[in-house]
Amino acid sequence: MNILNLDDFSVEQIEKILNLAEEFKNGKKVDYEGKKVISNLFFEPSTRTHYSFDMAALRLGCKTQNFDSGNSSLKKGESLYDTVKTFEMFGTDALVIRHVENEYYNQLVGKINIPILNAGDGTGNHPSQSLLDLLTIKQEFGKFEGLKIVIVGDIKHSRVAHTNIKVMQRLGMTVYISGPEEYKEEGYNYVELDEIIDKVDIVMLLRVQHERHSTSMQETVEEYHKAYGLNKQRVDQMKPTSIIMHPAPFNRGVEIADDVVECEKSRIFKQVQNGVYVRMALIHVALEENI
Ligand code: NCD
Repeated sequence: MNILNLDDFSVEQIEKILNLAEEFKNGKKVDYEGKKVISNLFFEPSTRTHYSFDMAALRLGCKTQNFDSGNSSLKKGESLYDTVKTFEMFGTDALVIRHVENEYYNQLVGKINIPILNAGDGTGNHPSQSLLDLLTIKQEFGKFEGLKIVIVGDIKHSRVAHTNIKVMQRLGMTVYISGPEEYKEEGYNYVELDEIIDKVDIVMLLRVQHERHSTSMQETVEEYHKAYGLNKQRVDQMKPTSIIMHPAPFNRGVEIADDVVECEKSRIFKQVQNGVYVRMALIHVALEENI
């Protein structure tokens, strides 16, 4: 089955995926004994998502193929569909795809006959990131209902924010948004960071998505850091039980101060670790056509 957009999954199915990921964390073994091949097709840069999908496949005993977009026939004008169809014809068992176009998968669904796992579509969806964020929150608080989160930064261009806002609200969380005027989007609950920071359970920071902007950012790095960056003073305002998250890559000294990245409240590297368990669960669900 395809895993493209969390809107396609019920809350119950999301809970099941998280439980399966937790089982993998606790040592559950599934071994495809080298009989399944997962192809990672990243048409946009990636470190965590790409290589944790790869690691997850290897941990499940799958073999992997990693498409090198920079040295591929994309340079000769080959389309997304033709590239993806080619991998299907090679005989791969599932495709992990990241692409710059929002909902790129709509041009593939119905024409590609093996599971597609969406590893990020433009500014649209990032289901595996959102699930690993949810797993991290669940491990910390044991629930979602009633939790408060503030997501800070470039909301407009962030597929992480777009995916998380929707699913977190469905799970009963209160989602506040903070960030520069130029990256504002209608319909969200905007607040001043310094007014909410002592009231939320989670502060989630985002990277400014420069690669998706047509003009450069209005603020200087220093101005951005002063207004929206998480520094030690702001961390000291947070509740004793609250945590810091970031999908990474993070820019030290911009949205997060250097000494906050690995502070006691930070779960940033735990998110990275959870990414492997969540992606093991997703690959397993996709291959077994079952959730
Ligand atoms: C995010 C992405 O690619 O959307 N990174 C990730 O997958 N961990 C966020 C980002 O690039 O800022």
